[in-house]
Amino acid sequence: MKPATHPTLLVDSIGCLLTLDPDLGDGPLGIVEDAAVAVAGERILFAGARRRLPAPYREAETIGAGGALVTPGLIDCHTHLVFAGDRSDEFFARLAGRSYEEIARSGGGIRRTVEATAGASDEKLRALARSRLDRFLAAGVTTVEAKSGYALSPEGELRLLRIAGSLGHAVSVVPTFLGAHVVPPGFAADRGAYVRVVTEEMLPRVVAERLSGICDVFCDEAAFSVDEAALILGRAKGLGLEVKLHADQLTGNGGAELAARLGALSADHLERVSDEGVAALSRSGTVAVLLPGAVFFLGKRSYPPARKLLDAGVPVAVSTDFNPGTSPTENLPLMMTLAAVELRMTAEEIWTGVTTSAARALALKDRGRLAPGLRADLVVWEAARPEEVPGRFGGVAVRCAVSGGRPFGMGLDSRGASH
Ligand code: NIG
Ligand code: FE
Repeated sequence: MKPATHPTLLVDSIGCLLTLDPDLGDGPLGIVEDAAVAVAGERILFAGARRRLPAPYREAETIGAGGALVTPGLIDCHTHLVFAGDRSDEFFARLAGRSYEEIARSGGGIRRTVEATAGASDEKLRALARSRLDRFLAAGVTTVEAKSGYALSPEGELRLLRIAGSLGHAVSVVPTFLGAHVVPPGFAADRGAYVRVVTEEMLPRVVAERLSGICDVFCDEAAFSVDEAALILGRAKGLGLEVKLHADQLTGNGGAELAARLGALSADHLERVSDEGVAALSRSGTVAVLLPGAVFFLGKRSYPPARKLLDAGVPVAVSTDFNPGTSPTENLPLMMTLAAVELRMTAEEIWTGVTTSAARALALKDRGRLAPGLRADLVVWEAARPEEVPGRFGGVAVRCAVSGGRPFGMGLDSRGASH
């Protein structure tokens, strides 16, 4: 199909446009002052200085940005979107002195969410996930990764992926297969048998039914060992999937080195990454996905060594890790603030972390920048400068989001979009 060239939407009077494309503007963020973006259907037709805007593009339906900041739609590249139940009692149990691992061993944690999810209908899970996506969109997020992992049976894991892939929401969803989240209780005496369920029953079906293009594993003492993760991810690669892993979160066990060895898209968490792990990631070009919300909400101080990673040349993304146990928030701009305060990232690094590096962590080539031909996902902020978004916290300052060329203002209906 020939791409549409007739403009359908114009975002005009942009005070500061972050294209994230150094060829289109100044510095690594590709900044253009006094700019406009023209959209044709789902795609960007023009992004740049207003004075260069071709005259016929001015005819399109127009959103006046009134001198505001416009950026690519944020990409949240690590979430556990689809689940039922609430674990806020565990939050208070931790504050009273119990650890995340202890709570998990005594029947709480991930396994508790698995039970609540098993008891919820497809309709219920869909409704919960959609209201979470509403909150993501209100925070300026137009693409969300959604991991399975709260079922741990072949039928259940496939169900979660099907739900994630068919939410019909303005926010695009990228489903990731995380059948190896933890070993379900029935397999405690024979972990190898569960690994075989993942490699021989789940993965081939995920691929045959095209439910996900990415396989993730929670590699940790509390979940799967490096050897088990290597087996699962090796099989996933053999079946043509991209791979990534939860690495070096609670225990430093060489997850980052494994991610690098496998050429993974990303190694996520990395609170306990070793210097060898940092060096390995910088050689492999694997994205480090940092999740400061999980450290914060677990009441810990063990933030990942973002500066070491950045200074070693590792691409760094920032994400919410939205999940019911360690990071129940859809507020990615708040994570941007935590990235500044706790990870010591600069405003430029943070913006790169929620746009281009996040796109790379999901192998998405059509977004994360605002350039002709790419998906028209953008945000008009109640802000004038890029520093202002991480430079406030708690609330969100989104005036309007455009996803796949369609505008969604605060409070407008965001349902029914097809992706
Ligand atoms: O990313 N680390 C593993 N998974 C989640 C926690 C999930 C849960 O506690 O439900 C995480 O932190
Ligand atoms: Fe996670």
